[in-house]
Amino acid sequence: MDTTCEIIDEPQQSLVKRIYYSARDGMAIALYTLLNDKSDVEVDCLINQKVLEDDGQRCTPLIVAARYGHNKVVRMLLDKFKPDLEQEGTVKFNGYVIEGATALWAAAGAGHLNVLKTLVKAGANVNHTTKTNSTPLRAACFNGRLDIVKYLINHQADINIPNMFNNTCLMIASYKGHLDIVNFLLDKAADPNKKAYCGATALHFAAECGHNTIVYELLKYGAQMTKNVSGMTPLITAAERTREEVVEYLVKRPEVTKEEKIDAYELLGASYANDKDNYSLNMAYTYLWKAMQLRYSDTENIIHKQLGSTVKAYENWKECETIESLESIKFNPNAIHMESLAIRERILGLHNPELPHPIVFRGAIFADNARFDRCIDLWLHALKLRQLNDISVVTDLLRFAQVFSQMIHVGVDLDISQVINVLEASVTELNRNKVKIQNPDSKDDIDQCVEEMESNITTTLYILTILTKLMTLNGNSDESDLTQAHHLVHKLCALKVCLKDGQTLLHLAVNAETPVDDFHTNDVCKFPCAATARLLIRCGADINAMDNERNTPLHIIVGYSKAISDFATLHSIIIDLIEAGAHMDTVNNRGHTPYDAVTTGVAKIILRTRTKLSLTCMAAKAIKTYDLPYRGNVPRSLESFIELHGPGLNQS
Ligand SMILES: *[C@@H]1O[C@H](CO)[C@@H](O)[C@H](O)[C@H]1NC(C)=O
Ligand SMILES: *[C@@H]1O[C@H](CO)[C@@H](O)[C@H](O)[C@H]1NC(C)=O
Ligand SMILES: *[C@@H]1O[C@H](CO)[C@@H](O)[C@H](O)[C@H]1NC(C)=O
Ligand SMILES: *[C@@H]1O[C@H](CO)[C@@H](O)[C@H](O)[C@H]1NC(C)=O
Ligand SMILES: *[C@@H]1O[C@H](CO)[C@@H](O)[C@H](O)[C@H]1NC(C)=O
Repeated sequence: MDTTCEIIDEPQQSLVKRIYYSARDGMAIALYTLLNDKSDVEVDCLINQKVLEDDGQRCTPLIVAARYGHNKVVRMLLDKFKPDLEQEGTVKFNGYVIEGATALWAAAGAGHLNVLKTLVKAGANVNHTTKTNSTPLRAACFNGRLDIVKYLINHQADINIPNMFNNTCLMIASYKGHLDIVNFLLDKAADPNKKAYCGATALHFAAECGHNTIVYELLKYGAQMTKNVSGMTPLITAAERTREEVVEYLVKRPEVTKEEKIDAYELLGASYANDKDNYSLNMAYTYLWKAMQLRYSDTENIIHKQLGSTVKAYENWKECETIESLESIKFNPNAIHMESLAIRERILGLHNPELPHPIVFRGAIFADNARFDRCIDLWLHALKLRQLNDISVVTDLLRFAQVFSQMIHVGVDLDISQVINVLEASVTELNRNKVKIQNPDSKDDIDQCVEEMESNITTTLYILTILTKLMTLNGNSDESDLTQAHHLVHKLCALKVCLKDGQTLLHLAVNAETPVDDFHTNDVCKFPCAATARLLIRCGADINAMDNERNTPLHIIVGYSKAISDFATLHSIIIDLIEAGAHMDTVNNRGHTPYDAVTTGVAKIILRTRTKLSLTCMAAKAIKTYDLPYRGNVPRSLESFIELHGPGLNQS
């Protein structure tokens, strides 16, 4: 229920704020004084107003007092002024923003048992959920506050209300490792076999996080081992996260088959070999060996691996199929790494979201050891997996730009086809982002997409620049590679992506202020860059595109200050733009043509020798200058042409 009364005048607004801050700061008496002499109607209005703070919290006095644990204030408000107990506000805890939180939720979330009791006694609804369908009980389960959990449940809180992802209180307590709460919830008949949207059960969460005792407890209460949407059982989840103890416990369960046990051991070993936090070659070998032993443990019924095709990024590694072959690689770390990557891909499957991380990790280690070729193969493989599953890539494109730059800088051979592969991924990513921005699921989504778009565009520019280095360095580039590169750049230009300030890739390519990532990338990518500009122009970039200030690329480049020391760049870009048909008399928001925007004598000379205003341009310029009506009087195609020649004059 929202308040209907409106506070409009200045003194009242300031009163609302004083009331709010007294409540927030626990000043019960001051608060009482502010409200005491008001009529019931006024109080009713004032007391239910929300105040927006700088940090984004937006609460009523009651909610904020509950949030900060001011029990006296809460009691006083309830006794004297009867605020609406079910009002919702926005509160913040450790960076989490919770919308639709009542005072009771805020007290539970912040862990103030005394306030919580006061509110429950006053009749607050214990089942009132937030916007994401979180109950006060869920907040207490998250925080591990058994006392609050008990109190709420003893006062009829519903233990079965899941959040918007169907994630239950038992799941969150299992995930966070609060054994006492898990116990209590199970005693109160919480269902351990409920599933969240992703198909996960409480057992998945406990297993994933390695909370052994919670795993035992859940199983004692009848938790079953089921698969989540990615096809992972709690056992496989534990193995993937290198939770050895959980794996060893679960494989002993009667419902686990021998094949499942082998898979779990192999995945556990394979994960140890490529885990960022829990890397252990020794553990890896131990479990790979245990699994192999199991495969051969019954000579009547040997369980052979079902191998698919090999993967180039894993050196086309073929998995060991016998104890002897496995023993032969015991002291060969690289072999164990590759064996393990191949095993993870076989057991988890190409569509598993957990598959790429260790591949990226292994690639990064290769890069650290200057094995760039291996790094790039692995990262490209991870990138392919990401795009296959339509998940944003972990191996972000910037990392490729950095490694490519490092390779060029230190003079290591870089294969142009690899850069082309990454460019292709960039185009895919930009296109995907563009589609998302046009058809957003929500407002948040849009903001995030727009932000990502900004950085993905500049990264794509770096990749283009790197590409041009290779196209010129080895003039012997494969013809088909070059054709493919041009084809991709055409596709990229057709996307017409631009930054929030309206700059296109071509603007960025000719702009000295274009930011360059400083981890290796700036050794190779510098702007303005004539080769990048030329590539873009040849592949159909809009040479007359305007940024938000109506600057065309030509406006930007003529302002380049290193006209003498970097004359070649300046000259090349201006000539390329003009020869491609850049308009010389397009005016920006300040009414300046490129010629007016020139800041150096050198640029002026280049421009002057090139200026041959066409007759149509002169006519268009005159129309704009003298504000002649033209809309409807000239063919429609000419209208936009005339538009180029003057800032938005009033045309009717
Ligand atoms: C909360 O939910 C429980 C279980 O459904 C129910 O017994 C109780 O009456 C509800 N309380 C309120 C205030 O709605
Ligand atoms: C969420 O849980 C409810 C109640 O258990 C169930 O009916 C519904 O199908 C679940 N939704 C999904 C997507 O799992
Ligand atoms: C399945 O469970 C694993 C481990 O908890 C998790 O990483 C994966 O994302 C889950 N799959 C889905 C679709 O939620
Ligand atoms: C793996 O490493 C993480 C981070 O160092 C640690 O918190 C976790 O307990 C480790 N897991 C195992 C099974 O050792
Ligand atoms: C796009 O940019 C965002 C934000 O920097 C980054 O997280 C994401 O990985 C980028 N996408 C690609 C494909 O690099």
